[in-house]
Amino acid sequence: MARLPDEFIQRLREANDIVELFRSYADVKKRGRTYVCCCPFHSEKTPSCTIYPENQSFYCFGCGVGGDAINFVRKMDNVGYMDAVQILAQRSGLQMPARSPDEQRTADLRRHCLEINREAANFYYLQLVKGQDKRGLAYFSSRKLSPATIKKYGLGFAPDDWHALHYHLRSKGYTDDEMVAAGVCRRSEKGAVYDYFRNRVMFPIVDLKGSVIAFGGRVLDDSKPKYLNTNDTPVFNKGRNLFSLNFAKNASSTTFILAEGYMDVISINQAGFDNVVATLGTAITPEQARLIAQYAKEVVISYDSDGAGQAATQRALNHFADVGLPARILKMEGAKDPDEYIKKFGADRFRLLIEHADDANLFQLTRCKEGLDIETELGKTEYLRRVVRVLAGIANPLQREVYISRIARETEVKAETLQIQVDGAVRAAKRSADRIQFRAIEAQSLQRDELNPEAQTYPKESKAEKEILSYLLHYPEDCEMVLQLVSPSLFKTEFHRRIYEAICEICSREEHFTLSMLHEAFSSEEVSRISGIIAGFQETPVNRDTLEECANVLREAQNRIIPSAEMSDDDLRRLLASKQKK
Ligand code: UTP
Ligand code: MN
Repeated sequence: MARLPDEFIQRLREANDIVELFRSYADVKKRGRTYVCCCPFHSEKTPSCTIYPENQSFYCFGCGVGGDAINFVRKMDNVGYMDAVQILAQRSGLQMPARSPDEQRTADLRRHCLEINREAANFYYLQLVKGQDKRGLAYFSSRKLSPATIKKYGLGFAPDDWHALHYHLRSKGYTDDEMVAAGVCRRSEKGAVYDYFRNRVMFPIVDLKGSVIAFGGRVLDDSKPKYLNTNDTPVFNKGRNLFSLNFAKNASSTTFILAEGYMDVISINQAGFDNVVATLGTAITPEQARLIAQYAKEVVISYDSDGAGQAATQRALNHFADVGLPARILKMEGAKDPDEYIKKFGADRFRLLIEHADDANLFQLTRCKEGLDIETELGKTEYLRRVVRVLAGIANPLQREVYISRIARETEVKAETLQIQVDGAVRAAKRSADRIQFRAIEAQSLQRDELNPEAQTYPKESKAEKEILSYLLHYPEDCEMVLQLVSPSLFKTEFHRRIYEAICEICSREEHFTLSMLHEAFSSEEVSRISGIIAGFQETPVNRDTLEECANVLREAQNRIIPSAEMSDDDLRRLLASKQKK
């Protein structure tokens, strides 16, 4: 991809002040030279998002999202780099620079994919309501969907034909390649193009801008696979979008319902709840959890009541905990999923279910009983052992107390006894800040570092690299001096070396360096991480002495043959101290 001129990016930055950008989403307060607000990317009550007008960047110490104005839009509007630039250009009335032929081609392909999806959705809809084959319509009416709902969701029917859509799109002037790229057609090994969705009822997936970007298609009977979903295309990524978010985002309620399937969402919506979404044929991703947290203050997980649904609930809970979104869990009895529940018991009963959904703690406590007969002594003891662990994890002492008395009653154990056990577990958990535990946690958190997997193997070097990067990010004008001191080959971790080389490369050709120049080479998550490196050292910037120490660390590491997988006690203490400072 040809680059956007740095000069244009510079103008874009100047025209879109980061503080102003935040003001349209959050209540921004001045604090010294910086601004703070409650993070618009996850839900929180005390502000942990800091905005730095000086270098036009932001960083949330709570959820780790950060960057410049461009990354703000990338995250907020869930769009790619180019779209984000375009949005900012439009917002500030800047003319986009002319595109290279390559970029023009990519943009054209994306546009065609969107047009084809829109055209296909229309085609499927007309086949459903006007086509000769009435089985699609019969199917939906057997599922009790009203004509209004069918229209609202733009549901459709893909005829039992290998070329119905193919020939239709051809008549509209689209090429086979474009249809295949859009995901509505496939190409066989022999090169023949045919319709991907056949003999299925169709669920269009619509993005936040109202464009059709993909489809789910369901069989009319019990054959397999039950659903086909569009694979990822230039305009669609299944882990980044949510079904029905286009409706839910405008819902009056800030409590979102997360359902498991398309039919559940539509049923729930038809019953009068606009605030419902589902993932697209996969388990929920961290990105989807963050997306929900952007629009909701709370989520009620409403998965199937079977074992798979419960396991998926646990995983979803973990993701919501990570983004700080309070979650409750809906418990259904007498129906396997919300769709069936609403049909059997009606919308009002479903509303009651939502209102009385258990909080996450109660869900975890109930799960403690799984596989146990608590009427037996063995079962009861094991149950209590598990329960104590969950109770110790509840931060609010009052809430803890309520559960303790409830479980004491249930198990006919004295509340005081249980209290003592829980207190012990709480203390043990607190002690877990001690060294051994700390190491385990630290190793774990490094393990989950997908952006920089090598940081785990080289904790000391990775830390030194971070400090060198932070120096460079604060004083890009010193680039030459830093390069003299540290050659990129000294960097142990690939991720940090890439950042280092990119900054040095930009500094060698540009007078001024800004975070915004990194977007072409780094993903949105990577840009967040980089702004974290800046923000982490904002208060106590790395000085020349530290810079030289860090260079020495890397030089020593190069002379050493075995990497230092273990941290020295000194390093650990320093790390702990730096954590406490925050
Ligand atoms: P369900 O089997 O619960 O589907 O799968 P559903 O939406 O409730 O449909 P009905 O009520 O049986 O008609 C939940 C979701 O998992 C995905 C789909 O997104 C579905 O909505 N799924 C399921 C697939 O992607 N492929 C499959 O083969 C099955
Ligand atoms: Mn179902």
